Amino acid sequence: MARDLDRGRGKADRTDAMTDALSQPNDTVLIITEDGKKFYTRLAPGYRQHTHQGIIDHDQLIGQPLGRKIVSSTGHACVVVEPSLAELMKEVKRKTQIVYAKEAGRIIFKMNIYPGRRVIEAGSGSGALTIALARFVSPHGRVYSYEARDDLLRNAQANVAKAGLGEIVEFKLRDIAEGFDEIGVDALFLDVREPWLYLVQAKNALKTSGFFGAIVPTTNQVSKLLQALHTYEFGGVEVEENFLRTYKPVPGRLRPEDIMIGHTGYLVFARNITPENFPEPPPRKRRQRLGS
Ligand SMILES: C[S@@+](CC[C@H](N)C(=O)[O-])C[C@H]1O[C@@H](n2cnc3c(N)ncnc32)[C@H](O)[C@@H]1O
Repeated sequence: MARDLDRGRGKADRTDAMTDALSQPNDTVLIITEDGKKFYTRLAPGYRQHTHQGIIDHDQLIGQPLGRKIVSSTGHACVVVEPSLAELMKEVKRKTQIVYAKEAGRIIFKMNIYPGRRVIEAGSGSGALTIALARFVSPHGRVYSYEARDDLLRNAQANVAKAGLGEIVEFKLRDIAEGFDEIGVDALFLDVREPWLYLVQAKNALKTSGFFGAIVPTTNQVSKLLQALHTYEFGGVEVEENFLRTYKPVPGRLRPEDIMIGHTGYLVFARNITPENFPEPPPRKRRQRLGS
């Protein structure tokens, strides 16, 4: 007991190497160079990761614990860590605009994405959202990712495979105007320019009461989508915008970063349930102002 308390107070005992998992082939790791640049890679024996600060041999990393300092072929120090889901999404090879972690988190929560779910998304784009969806439906769920452009589909597929999630996702090269193959899916998310054009297709694929979601960058698009959701009788419609303010982590001078991303997109959520069956909450009573 006394020993445990001592341990808690002091530095963790790093002599017990068994507490650190060792990197294995196929693990996805993040290499951070001295100047903070990030490279993520899937470990494979004999492979080499090129960076602007020299080459790192994968064989230097396999069988070793993460969090260690590594020296590149040009003598630069770097550190190798496990990437967070947010980093995996941000570091994809981008050929399109992507969904960021701040929106993906809301999508996962609002659309009830959990292990075993069957989810459709379109378009695949660069596969950033695909990675988040696949991570959450793993290991027995499935993501069906539709994309109209072959070059983009192949890039998204490579990004998802690099994140180690290739087996969870079925990519389909198709204009979604032609409809989806699946029926009775739990959730369907659209990140396309004109989502209002595909609501019949979405309704046919979703299970009754299934979750619908979309992201669009402008309010004009939100209005068109709202009108169409009304026409095609989706219920429980919600619109939201999410802001993230990060801080400079300096204990004695804590303040927000100078630059903030002002706008990414509007999220629209609904359910495949007719509005009559989806009770609207009673209007909130306005509180009387103090003194009035
Ligand atoms: C903004 S990107 C999607 C980004 C993706 N959510 C991500 O996080 O990487 C939009 C994609 O939708 C695709 N797209 C647009 N209209 C489509 C349609 N009718 N059918 C299939 N894909 C479509 C585009 O080719 C593009 O790749």
